[in-house]
Amino acid sequence: MNFHHIPVLFNETIEMLDLKPGQIIVDATLGGGGHAGGILERIAPDGILIGIDRDPNALAAARANLQEYGDALITVHGNFNDLGTILDKLNTPHVNGMVMDLGVSSHQLDEKSRGFSYQDDAPLDMRMDPTQSFSAMNVVNEYEERQLARIIFDYGEERWAARIAKFIVENRPIHTTGELTEIIKAAIPAKARRQGPHPSRRTFQAIRIEVNGELETLEEAIESAVNSLKSGGRLCIITFHSLEDRIVKNTFRRLQSPCTCPPDSPICICGQEASIKILTRKPIIPSKYEIDENPRSRSAKLRTCEKL
Ligand SMILES: C[S@@+](CC[C@H](N)C(=O)[O-])C[C@H]1O[C@@H](n2cnc3c(N)ncnc32)[C@H](O)[C@@H]1O
Repeated sequence: MNFHHIPVLFNETIEMLDLKPGQIIVDATLGGGGHAGGILERIAPDGILIGIDRDPNALAAARANLQEYGDALITVHGNFNDLGTILDKLNTPHVNGMVMDLGVSSHQLDEKSRGFSYQDDAPLDMRMDPTQSFSAMNVVNEYEERQLARIIFDYGEERWAARIAKFIVENRPIHTTGELTEIIKAAIPAKARRQGPHPSRRTFQAIRIEVNGELETLEEAIESAVNSLKSGGRLCIITFHSLEDRIVKNTFRRLQSPCTCPPDSPICICGQEASIKILTRKPIIPSKYEIDENPRSRSAKLRTCEKL
């Protein structure tokens, strides 16, 4: 299977994971296995990589790309929100490190029929997991106007959200990404359209986040990832837009300083103790060279913490 995804912040992620031979590592967003290959190389010969993805096509591609590692790669079709259950089933409740490279892969974006891209005309879909029944078709055709405006504004940070939602509702039923793009274009005034990025970019991002529930449970997923680490284990998270990065940053901060006592309290009475130490005070971002080589990396940010 052809799976072209250039791993983002590869060297930086591998370095931050501080890998050792024999370790058990989780790649919670296996994709085509780009990061996973670098990890397997360093934990060989006795290490194990547990690779999770909600997209069965990604798992098949990663297995093909990483076949030289044989049984050292365990692939699991699932959602990293269920990490605890997945690791319990594998009798490995605690691991030495974990990586989460959030969002969609280049392969998913490029596979026209999956409807992620506003550059192509395809049925409204946008499911990362094709076995899930809820898709962009439901969001676009069934949500109330107010609900649509809210997700386009919150998840797309789109200032024309209310107008776009109104135009969508007035033009239903909508079947394809091409039809949706025409409606978005009509909703955004010509002047604003000329100045900004592609008029559909923000709305497509918002619908994709809603279809895949990308932000709702991220905070819980990070907490569960931290709970699954052994002491000294590291968690690397790569994000691609400000909403995701803010959740990672705030969750790391809370887990590092969970005390809820009033600032003037002489001693801690809440009893909440830190579970992690943040290793990246500022996020690590791609070099100019990486952005030139792989423009999709331009908004990437890597944050890492270590379990205490
Ligand atoms: C950016 S790609 C990862 C690419 C990978 N690091 C590589 O180097 O090839 C993100 C992958 O994570 C998967 N994914 C996103 N959210 C997920 C979730 N909640 N649970 C499991 N997999 C998820 C997507 O299906 C996609 O294949």
